[in-house]
Amino acid sequence: MRTELYREFLSARFELEVEREAAGDIVSGTLIDRSRAARWPIVAGVPRLVPPENYSANFGLQWNRFRTTQLDSATGLNFTFNGFWNNTRWRPRELHGCSVLEAGSGAGRFTEVLLDAGARVVSFDYSSAVDANWHNNAARGELLLFQGDIYDLPFDAGRFDFVFCYGVLQHTPDPAAAFRALFAQLRPGGRMSIDFYRRVPYPAWYSTPKYLWRPLTTRLPPEQLFRLVSWYVPKWLPLDTALKSVLFRVPRIGPMLAGLIPVPCWNHLRMGLTRQQRRDWAILNTFDALGARYDQPLTAREVEAMVRGPGREVQVSHGANGVVANITKHGDTAGAPQQAQPRRLRTAAGR
Ligand SMILES: C[S@@+](CC[C@H](N)C(=O)[O-])C[C@H]1O[C@@H](n2cnc3c(N)ncnc32)[C@H](O)[C@@H]1O
Repeated sequence: MRTELYREFLSARFELEVEREAAGDIVSGTLIDRSRAARWPIVAGVPRLVPPENYSANFGLQWNRFRTTQLDSATGLNFTFNGFWNNTRWRPRELHGCSVLEAGSGAGRFTEVLLDAGARVVSFDYSSAVDANWHNNAARGELLLFQGDIYDLPFDAGRFDFVFCYGVLQHTPDPAAAFRALFAQLRPGGRMSIDFYRRVPYPAWYSTPKYLWRPLTTRLPPEQLFRLVSWYVPKWLPLDTALKSVLFRVPRIGPMLAGLIPVPCWNHLRMGLTRQQRRDWAILNTFDALGARYDQPLTAREVEAMVRGPGREVQVSHGANGVVANITKHGDTAGAPQQAQPRRLRTAAGR
């Protein structure tokens, strides 16, 4: 954990006990929440502000097994880079030196885009995926990473210039409450970009088979489901490719007919991936689809109704994972990153 970012962003109700520090990073120690008399460990450089067992265990497993699979820096492709800038409609120079709160960062494929733009990034995930992200991005720039919960954030309200959250809100038990919790973190004049899976009233190749199987697969322990998916997906992939290659050539109804194939298999055709990458992406995304405890897609209209409200400007469009909402909080736009708060540091050894 980076000491100076901790001092700047975490609520003053937290007190830090440092056990071991190396090159400006707190490697181990404790964060004490004085208002709740709670003690949270810092393990392997990352504060853990949630109980280790929670509904995101499947995500921890997949992002640690496929730590670099979807990172642009590892694939040599630019899906995440393009997806980020096209959908947020932010500009790199707008992010430079600004504070960004990233919610549900997984292995950190967007964290690396934010850091490369020169943002000061505070990023968190509910699962042990933070270990993968820390490994991938700790040395990349100004990053404060912690394991935490959208519904219980360790900041005072209105601290961030930007809030970013892609691929996450449909996987929470109450997406509207999660949205409100994140919106509260924006400073006046700040901007937010979020997305949701899109709910459609017809068969869709990317969603129908998963909703058929999820009542069963979400009941399996994540390790068991992962073994099952890692076994059948590579075997099924060639036939799936043959079927979908034909169906996707049929305009309009082809993708709907592909939605009627009952075997769930995320098949990344025509994306320029190597054979090995396609296999890994298929296992990763099929496991993701079948294992997430919550999966609550919304229509664009439902997203719009959720995010609209007084004191903000909202744009809802189709993109990224389905539906994207870009929101600006009204207010003074002159907000430079806020000043550091004085904070008491203690070391366990009394140093
Ligand atoms: C599908 S992954 C997306 C990860 C990353 N944003 C990406 O696009 O690669 C969803 C992530 O949301 C996280 N998540 C789910 N509920 C959360 C919560 N209440 N607080 C923080 N993160 C949460 C999961 O642990 C998981 O890593």
